[in-house]
Amino acid sequence: MEAKTENGMRVVGMISGTSVDAIDVAVCDLAPDAGNGPDALTLRLIAHAEQRFPPALRERTLALLSLQAAPLADLTELNFQIGDAFVEAALRTLDAAGTGLAQIDLVASHGQTLYHLMEPGRTPSTWQTGEAAVIAQRLGVTVTSDFRVADVAAGGQGAPLVSYLDALLFAGPRTVALQNIGGIGNVTFVPAGRGPEDAYAFDTGPGNALLDRAARVFGYPAGYDEGGRMALRGAVHEGLLTELLAHPHYTRHPPKSTGREVFGDAYADEILGRSEQMGLSPDDTMATLAALTADSIVHAYRAFGPPEIETVYVSGGGALNLALMERLRVSLPDSRVILYDESGMSGTIKEAVAFAVLGYECVHGRPANLPSCTGADARVVLGKITPGANYNNLLSRVTQEVSPCSRTRTISLLA
Ligand SMILES: Nc1ncnc2c1ncn2[C@@H]1O[C@H](COP(=O)(O)OP(=O)(O)O)[C@@H](O)[C@H]1O
Ligand SMILES: [Mg+2]
Repeated sequence: MEAKTENGMRVVGMISGTSVDAIDVAVCDLAPDAGNGPDALTLRLIAHAEQRFPPALRERTLALLSLQAAPLADLTELNFQIGDAFVEAALRTLDAAGTGLAQIDLVASHGQTLYHLMEPGRTPSTWQTGEAAVIAQRLGVTVTSDFRVADVAAGGQGAPLVSYLDALLFAGPRTVALQNIGGIGNVTFVPAGRGPEDAYAFDTGPGNALLDRAARVFGYPAGYDEGGRMALRGAVHEGLLTELLAHPHYTRHPPKSTGREVFGDAYADEILGRSEQMGLSPDDTMATLAALTADSIVHAYRAFGPPEIETVYVSGGGALNLALMERLRVSLPDSRVILYDESGMSGTIKEAVAFAVLGYECVHGRPANLPSCTGADARVVLGKITPGANYNNLLSRVTQEVSPCSRTRTISLLA
């Protein structure tokens, strides 16, 4: 086990995405990098794991997420149960890594999104659950959580937030796209020769959410289309695909974000009904849904992306779906479409790492939203702090470090 950097912090970043498949945990060391200026940080990934979401809790969560109206008692209880699940996920990861709780300075938990409401005519709002107080009490460590609401309160979409890390790590001489394919797809574009504040981002539309619902309805044992094998066996139905690509999300101008409320089980069931009516086989349906995810990404690049994207780094579980990857490669012949892992960090864990960084910025009072990505009116500090047993100690360490908020961070990734 790597020793902790002397003036740094060991931060546990955690997130469960819209797929509700796993609690992703990343243990990161973040430290000032004085040699590179007052705003420079180093980031080292110490340990990481995808801890399976407890199956019964997953069923319960997915069931509640698909209801139009959920009982308040169930939502209240779920908040605490998911908090407990995050505690277990952190403990299992630390245990396997051989690093003790005593070494941990901060937990940064995204929690589980229950609802992301960006519907025209409604008050923009978002709700993440997984009680931070449960995590702080049981781990005895200060927790930062609820990162999206400050950005929404500042007029933003509250998403994508991972773009902060994308922009800091990839701003440079090449134009790149960081495409994540989780339950929902999102992209960060980082134009060549510009600073992190010029990166821009948005949700491209469905990632795996529709595919996963279909896989469950068709009874695939994994609960998803492993490797994209079913989709690869099927044929894309062009007529249905064209119908589906008429969804208004795809032509809406960024910034924009979406979620399971739009591209979730209800929409998937509508599509499945339509494909049954048209006489499509399960494999053809999977092929068409995979094409929908890939084409919605490609259309987004053509409509809103920068010219001449040199490399597209694909992360999230969808990067393992070969039907998705093949279609992206064929449709984007002028770009290298590769796994995010080739950049030096695992693509399945980058979101948990990003939240560790957001947690670090929160306790240091540094804004970590990029208005160019979320559409917020201002740069604001993201997250809420729930004191744990180490709170006083933590405060005494960060107060000396607080630096002007308007300056841009730089982050170097250490191997
Ligand atoms: N080997 C695989 N082949 C195809 N799809 C996969 C594979 N592994 C994971 N996935 C897909 O990725 C999803 C999880 O992706 P993830 O990035 O964790 O999303 P989220 O951020 O929404 O949790 C799974 O639900 C599944 O659809
Ligand atoms: Mg996941």
